[in-house]
Amino acid sequence: MPTLDCAHLPFLLYGGDYNPDQWPRDVWREDVALMREAGVNFVSLGIFSWSKLEPRPGDFDFAWLDDVMDMLHAGGIAVDLATATASPPAWLAKQYPESLPVTSTGVRLAFGARQGYSPHSQAYREHAARLVERMADRYKGHPALAMWHVNNEYGCHVSECFSDAGAAAFRLWLQRKYGTLDALNHAWGTSFWSQIRYSWDEVDPPRAAPTFVNPAMQLDWKRFSSDAILELMHMEVAILRRVTPDVPITTNFMGFFKPLDYFKWAEGEDLVSEDAYPDPSSADEPAHNAMRFDLMRSFKRGVPWLLMEQAPSAVNWRPRNSPKRPGQMRAFSLQAVARGARGVMFFQWRQSAAGSEKFHSALVPHAGRDTRVWREVSALGADLAKLGDIREAPVRADAAIVFSWENWWAMELDSHPTADLKMLGQLRAYYDRLYEQNLTVDFVQPGQDLAGYKLVCVPNLYLTRLEAVAALERFVAQGGVAVVSPFSGIVDENDRVHLGGYPAPLRALLGVRIEEFAPLQPGEGNRVATRDEELFTSRVWSDVMECTTAQPVAMFTEDYVTQRPAVTRNAFGAGYAYYLGTCLDADGMRWVLARARHDAGLVSPMATPAGVEAVWRGDWLFVLNHTRDAQRVALPAGLRDALSGAPASALADLGPNESRVFRRP
Ligand code: GAL
Repeated sequence: MPTLDCAHLPFLLYGGDYNPDQWPRDVWREDVALMREAGVNFVSLGIFSWSKLEPRPGDFDFAWLDDVMDMLHAGGIAVDLATATASPPAWLAKQYPESLPVTSTGVRLAFGARQGYSPHSQAYREHAARLVERMADRYKGHPALAMWHVNNEYGCHVSECFSDAGAAAFRLWLQRKYGTLDALNHAWGTSFWSQIRYSWDEVDPPRAAPTFVNPAMQLDWKRFSSDAILELMHMEVAILRRVTPDVPITTNFMGFFKPLDYFKWAEGEDLVSEDAYPDPSSADEPAHNAMRFDLMRSFKRGVPWLLMEQAPSAVNWRPRNSPKRPGQMRAFSLQAVARGARGVMFFQWRQSAAGSEKFHSALVPHAGRDTRVWREVSALGADLAKLGDIREAPVRADAAIVFSWENWWAMELDSHPTADLKMLGQLRAYYDRLYEQNLTVDFVQPGQDLAGYKLVCVPNLYLTRLEAVAALERFVAQGGVAVVSPFSGIVDENDRVHLGGYPAPLRALLGVRIEEFAPLQPGEGNRVATRDEELFTSRVWSDVMECTTAQPVAMFTEDYVTQRPAVTRNAFGAGYAYYLGTCLDADGMRWVLARARHDAGLVSPMATPAGVEAVWRGDWLFVLNHTRDAQRVALPAGLRDALSGAPASALADLGPNESRVFRRP
């Protein structure tokens, strides 16, 4: 697999989306001069340029892009060149109305925004493929071309299309998966509610229906929709690999984006890239941002990823768009580098004068260079230039969280015991408690080998394949510690219940038997008392369970589950498996994870005040103050300031939102 050429790009990448087609030529020259001034060395070019590159079907105009490519190269700026297929021109929609996407209620969406295509449209596919071929032919061997940027944020606005072409593609996908209708009927449990299909024509997408649509069908539809859009990426990648085999390829992800199974997607690209837009007004965002960065690093373990987009300051698409406060943009940028990024990029270089994003911040704001944003991005450019050696350094994680898209989809299907168990909240219940201990976390798919981790957290593994059970059992038997959330081990890959008493396939590992679920109403809670007499609140869920081989470590104290186990610990081989029969409050999770960490021998690398994050990447230590107050942090001995080179003192003082980088000699 081609990688980003480190000999030619021996620095952290720094830059952003560059849209010169929105500006006259004289602005382009100024752009290159300003890019150099800000330390920009990499731009993503031409993402939304299709209508400029192909004004009429088959009639291409590359002259302007040739000039931009040459100019950037002359200025020493490398290019992440877009295939420009993200937003088809008006003529495609006019000529092929069926290329526009259709919603589950049968509405065909109109041209006039962006991403106006159905992933199942033959016309879109053919025209996109032709454009990619022409782009690749035109720019192969161009010295500015460093990477391909396939499409843009696939699925961002249209992640499912219920058109007739979509229905036909769904049937084909199902035929490949199941072979026969009998197999499909069995997998979907169609004896329920008279849903048996006797011919493939009777299978349609899960369009708006009188009530709950067959859940196994909904689950397959999610899998199919992710695969269908992935097919578009594969189509482009195949062309690019043929014409420019040495140029690495990426497409930009959107963190925990529910519609697309990025584990599968990441296999098809050379470099993982991510767009992250934390809300600067929310104190909750640093942990969430850290979590998505850890996810990005986890897709290709050991290989750096790239922060492809973030806002220099405010975005335009929230109801209220706060600017990033002084220091916040730097903190979020360094957070990415700390968690394994190969560089830091923005949307976008120059703030648009027209269009829907004219109030979105940019490196060059409407007000020009004499602005706080410009000063902060230029200063960051200069700082990153001093951190180039870090670009390939690995990030070590001793803890992992088990996560998969198919489980997310299945867990949030309708008609469950409660609608209040949500995957992101359940992930955060673990992640935040590890984050506040400055413990870095990898995300692993169920069934993946867990050797090398000390602690593995399993938030709501509702859909449990037997290979996931085997991997967990192996890990714990060999001395690992696992913590498992409620509503795990419930169904197989077709959403069919594992019979024999919950959580059937996990009963040996967890040593519990659950008779009944007792979810709670909003505002309702129970209390959970630990053996050492701590008391916590629990919400959302309670299991009515008994221990078979596990020991209870905390009991419910209210209602008819009083004195029943709420949290258990089971010795299994050389390790331990904890089970949570409820959703504990933050203090309760802290308590459980402290015990589990103790069993696992997992210690925090460094203590920091609340809101201050410390992350090691190789020999570099990043200390990020995400609070609006000054903070003091005790540092390990023997460090130097990575930017000034001066020896660091034992205590580091950080101003509001200030970040520092240190290095072990
Ligand atoms: C991203 C997108 C960019 C821009 C940005 C604004 O989702 O890739 O093109 O629209 O959001 O925040």
